[in-house]
Amino acid sequence: MTEALVNTYTNTNDIQLIRMEYVDKTAHLSTQPNSLNELIDLIYQAFATNDVDIDYVSTIMNNYKGNMKEWLPYMKFQPNKYTRNLVNGGNGKFNLMILCWAEGQGSSIHDHTNSHCFMKCLQGSLIETKYAWPNDENKEEQMRIISRTELKEGQVTYINDTIGLHRVENPSHTDTCATLHLYVPPYSQCNIFDERTGRTNEAHVTFYSKGGQLTKNE
Ligand code: SIN
Repeated sequence: MTEALVNTYTNTNDIQLIRMEYVDKTAHLSTQPNSLNELIDLIYQAFATNDVDIDYVSTIMNNYKGNMKEWLPYMKFQPNKYTRNLVNGGNGKFNLMILCWAEGQGSSIHDHTNSHCFMKCLQGSLIETKYAWPNDENKEEQMRIISRTELKEGQVTYINDTIGLHRVENPSHTDTCATLHLYVPPYSQCNIFDERTGRTNEAHVTFYSKGGQLTKNE
């Protein structure tokens, strides 16, 4: 639900009461996308204002079932590294992408540059490990794991920088995995972390393909 505090005024016996109420600004929106294009339409509607309704967006991501035919243009696996494939650039407001994880591939521990990150497992399964931020950037210390969760086909998870950091990996050595990621707002740079020391480096994130066409970045 997109909640916004609004003032409502009521005159009772000449006493003006000022009440603060929560108003659901997404109540008129559907939560049932029947295709990837419908999901994209709902995401555009959801971000028509600058509010980000985490519950609503998680719900539509969760309700989206989709099928391989829709994902095929973005299913591009590489032997050396997982690939990031842009599905929709959201007029600069969001990035919707499909990430393709070959057997055993994973990301570095990273932050999300103050963006919201929604992630849905489309095919296969993956492990998400959440980490606490390092306590002291001047002190080398093993990073603390907050949780380790298996995300199965169809499941959705959410993270932002206030929750912590994470890394994602395809634990299977026989099956590939594909995930749908929604970043709001989009980001092109993030920080990656060394698990053993907590030391950080800046990383530039690129796309292997956009709209199904290979880019020249990778
Ligand atoms: C992830 O581990 O969440 C994917 C990182 C990325 O967007 O490349």
